[in-house]
Amino acid sequence: MQPLMKRRVAMEMHETATMRSASMDDVETLAAIEEASFSGDRVSRRSFRHLLSRGKSLTLIDTLAGETRGYLTLLFRAKTARARVYTIATAAAWKGRGVAAGLVRAAEQAARARGCTAVYLEVRKDNVASIGLFTTSGYRVFGEYEAYYEDGMDAWRMEKALVE
Ligand SMILES: CC(C)(COP(=O)(O)OP(=O)(O)OC[C@H]1O[C@@H](n2cnc3c(N)ncnc32)[C@H](O)[C@@H]1OP(=O)(O)O)[C@@H](O)C(=O)NCCC(=O)NCCS
Repeated sequence: MQPLMKRRVAMEMHETATMRSASMDDVETLAAIEEASFSGDRVSRRSFRHLLSRGKSLTLIDTLAGETRGYLTLLFRAKTARARVYTIATAAAWKGRGVAAGLVRAAEQAARARGCTAVYLEVRKDNVASIGLFTTSGYRVFGEYEAYYEDGMDAWRMEKALVE
């Protein structure tokens, strides 16, 4: 396990949540939450393994008392200073508790640390929760892709400039 950063957050009942980078040991948990969170266009176990084995991505995990509450994968490209949110999900039991918002903030911090000046993503146009999450986190729509997803749904392209 390679902790990238540890952020301790005061929680109810004196529990503390920890933000850390994922390792191969997390693949099963990541895949299980991914499967429960998306009906199509899922990141497979194989893809998570691939992502975790190369240096061009970072998967952050939020845990509380050993339980994975959510995760976010960022992709980095050598030729661009923009990091891409590849996937993000919160486990069903923890939705609506600020887990994803915390993951987005931690991802932005990690992107800044890698010299990135912006973070961007694609989101289904019918994904109200995710559009709400990224809008609340300061992201703005800058474009769209038609029929981007397996079922033909369009995507909004959203981004946020990382200012000091
Ligand atoms: C989208 C998702 C990651 C949000 O996770 P979460 O931990 O429940 O989100 P948070 O509690 O941190 O909410 C942060 C903000 O997101 C927005 N939001 C979250 N859920 C929402 C919902 N159901 N409807 C509208 N806005 C919502 C709100 O603005 C919220 O801020 P607020 O609580 O101050 O109103 C979660 O619903 C999920 O896992 N969905 C399935 C996977 C997915 O669609 N991922 C996104 C792919 S682009």
